[in-house]
Amino acid sequence: MTDLTYSEKINEAASYISSKVSDLPETCLVLGSGLGPLTEKADTLVSISYADIPHFPRTTVPGHEGLLIVAEFSGKKTFIMKGRFHYYEGYSTQEATFYVRVMAKLGVKNLVMTNAAGGIKKSMHPSELMVITDHISLFCDSPLRGANLDEFGVRFPDQTHVYDQDFIRLIGEAAEELGITLHQGVYAYTRGPQYETPAEIRALAALGADAVGMSTVAEAIAASHCSMRVLAVSCISNYAAGISGQPLSHEEVMTNANAASQNSIALMERFFSKI
Ligand code: HPA
Repeated sequence: MTDLTYSEKINEAASYISSKVSDLPETCLVLGSGLGPLTEKADTLVSISYADIPHFPRTTVPGHEGLLIVAEFSGKKTFIMKGRFHYYEGYSTQEATFYVRVMAKLGVKNLVMTNAAGGIKKSMHPSELMVITDHISLFCDSPLRGANLDEFGVRFPDQTHVYDQDFIRLIGEAAEELGITLHQGVYAYTRGPQYETPAEIRALAALGADAVGMSTVAEAIAASHCSMRVLAVSCISNYAAGISGQPLSHEEVMTNANAASQNSIALMERFFSKI
């Protein structure tokens, strides 16, 4: 039997999901660290384990459950992804963004992502939120490397507005209405899994980065290639290396991401009511 191509795998995964879901949503919400409890605010209609979806990768990160849910959230039918895939787990950027192409195939138009990130800009503090206005991915593989998937987008896509300007405005309004501090900033993508050195953080700051993290950007590039509207919100889970002088730990990241979860969830709820 010949190996399936990447496109054929996308088609098989999409067919499986569409066989389980009538009336497909147009929005996909990806839950990053600390956002898991959001599903308690959503009415689940269908729940599919990643393990049952043909060719879907498996999550290896504790706390990333590996469930694709279809739910009503804030009055909007949406796919909710509990768990995503990272380069540091050993996946290629093509594999890590496989789900984005599957979502595109299913007709999804909006990709909303959350993540935890280290704060570089000194005015941002742990447990505060930042909407990503742009990113730096200079040091990482592109998910678009290799043969272009012409059915999704062009070979050399423009990246002037990867993050949707209207979505950034709407989530800003939502934050203001709720009295939640929402910074705006540039997110630098690093491969991980090791945190950065202080010298790397100084270099990223000099390049214009406000926050740093190990996810989201490859997915945003893949989604923008498919002409999706993208929104991404970071929870600042720690001061980036060298900013406070304290060593970084995954425990600190999880504690601060969990401490921000009520605000993150309220913000997402209000944002969803506006789209
Ligand atoms: N660096 C990279 N990724 C992260 C960080 C960080 O400081 N915090 C949470 N994810």
